[in-house]
Amino acid sequence: MSELKLPDDFLWGGAVSANQCEGAWNVGGKGVSTADVAAAGKHGEARLYTETIQEGVYYPNHDAIDFYHRYQEDIALFAEMGFKCFRTSIHWTRIFPNGDEKEPNEEGLAFYDRLFDECLKYGIEPVVTISHYETPLYLVQKYGSWTNRKMIDFYLNLCKALFKRFHTKVKYWMTFNEINVITLNPEVAAGIRPGQGDSRSQTLYQAAHYQFVASAKAVKLGHDINPELKIGMMMLYPLSYAETCSPEDNLENMHNMDLHYLFSDVQVRGYYTPKAKKYFARNGIVLDITEQDLQDLQAGTVDYIGISYYMSLVTSATPERKIKVKGNMLDGIVNPYLEKSDWDWQIDAVGLRIALNNLYDRYQLPIFVVENGLGAIDVKVEGEPIQDDYRIAYLSKHIAQMKEAILVDGVDVMGYTVWGCIDLVSASTGEMKKRYGMIYVDRNDQGEGTLQRERKKSFEWYKNVIRTNGETL
Ligand code: BG6
Repeated sequence: MSELKLPDDFLWGGAVSANQCEGAWNVGGKGVSTADVAAAGKHGEARLYTETIQEGVYYPNHDAIDFYHRYQEDIALFAEMGFKCFRTSIHWTRIFPNGDEKEPNEEGLAFYDRLFDECLKYGIEPVVTISHYETPLYLVQKYGSWTNRKMIDFYLNLCKALFKRFHTKVKYWMTFNEINVITLNPEVAAGIRPGQGDSRSQTLYQAAHYQFVASAKAVKLGHDINPELKIGMMMLYPLSYAETCSPEDNLENMHNMDLHYLFSDVQVRGYYTPKAKKYFARNGIVLDITEQDLQDLQAGTVDYIGISYYMSLVTSATPERKIKVKGNMLDGIVNPYLEKSDWDWQIDAVGLRIALNNLYDRYQLPIFVVENGLGAIDVKVEGEPIQDDYRIAYLSKHIAQMKEAILVDGVDVMGYTVWGCIDLVSASTGEMKKRYGMIYVDRNDQGEGTLQRERKKSFEWYKNVIRTNGETL
C-alpha cells in the first residue's frame, strides 16, 4: 500500500546557515553583519555581541569552516550521501554590504550562483533561507534594525535581487529563520537590544510585525516573479508539556504556545487572531499597523511551514518552578522522562510527531522539517572515523517519529534536513566542539585545525537512510 512508504519526492537533505559555515567574512565586497560581531561563548555562557570588530577578540564566524572556498568539496560529499536538497541562507551583507544600497553587489550574487549551480549539478535542490540571524550591522546601528519600518524596504530589495537572479535555480525559499526568536532572543535574531523594561514587548512585537509585513510582501513578490516558487515561513517549534495535569499548568502551557502560534497564524492565515489582539491589549502593546499592512498580510500567506525541532520543554503555572533547564533559545523545567544532550537540551523524538500533528491539525499546510539534529562532543581518534552512534540514535528515533506522523497520522511533511550536516559554528555558543555534522571538520574553539573534512560513521548511515527513502533507519 502506497501509504506505508514515504513519497518518492521526499526532500531528504541537510541544512546550514551562511554565517555559521561560509567564513570569508570580509571577502568579495561583503559587509559586516550581526553574526560577524558575535564573540565566542561556551556552554552556559552567552556570546558577547560587540559594537564593532575589536582587536584581540576571537570571532568564530569570521572563518567558520571556510565553506565559501570549499563548497565544491562539501557539496560533493552531500551528493555522495544522496542529498535531494541542501538548505542554506544568504549572507545579506554579501549582497548588500550595508543593507540600504540601491544596487546589489555582483560578487556576492555570483558566489551564490556558483553555489546553486554546484548543487544542481548533482540534482540537489537548493532550499534558501533569506535571513538567518545575519542582519547588516549598519542597518542595526543606523536604523535600529527591525524596530524601524524602513527595514521592510531594505529586506524587499534583497528579496527582489535574489528572486530575479535565482528564480530558475531555487524553487524553495523561507523568508526568516525561526521568526518567533525575535521575541525570545532579539539580539541573536536581529541585533536588537530592547532592555528588560516595560517597553520590551512593545518593541519586539513591533519588530515582529515589520517582519510579518516584509515576509508577506516577499511571498507576493516571489510569486509575481515566478508562480512556481514555494515560499515558506520558518519557526522554532517549542513543543511544551504542562508539568502536571492541573488545569492551571495546562492553561499556562496553552498561553505559552499561543505566543508562538501568533507567528504562524499571521504568516499562514494572513491576520492577527482575536486572541493575539487581546494579548496585545492586555499588555498595553499598541502597534504601528496600517490598513495597507493588513492587506499585505492577507495577500502574502505562505506556501509551507518550515520548522526547527531539537527538544521539548515543560511548563508550570507556579512561578518558583520556572526555568530549571536551558534549551534552544528557551528555558523550562526538567522532564524526568527524557534524556539530555551534552548541552542539556531534552531529547524528545516522540515530541516531533506531536509537533507535526499539532501544526498540521491547525493549518493543513505542508510542513518541512528544516532543522533537527544533535549537538554533541565527538572524540577524534587519529586514523579512524568518528563513531557517533549517539547521533545516529538521535536522528533515527526522530526520523522514525516523523514517519509515524506521515504514515500513521496523515501529516503532510515535504522533507527533512539534518541541521549542521557538516560541522559548523554553533549559533548560541560560537563553539565548534558542539558538533552536529555527519562530516567532521578539523577545527577547534581556538580557530586551530586544518579544516580538513572527514566522513563520520553517521555519514554512511544517513546515506543508507536516503537510499532507502527512510526504510532503513
Ligand atoms: C537553531 C538555529 O535555533 O538552532 C541554528 O536556527 C542553530 O542557527 C541551531 O545553529 C542549533 O543551535 P546551536 O546553538 O546549537 O547552534
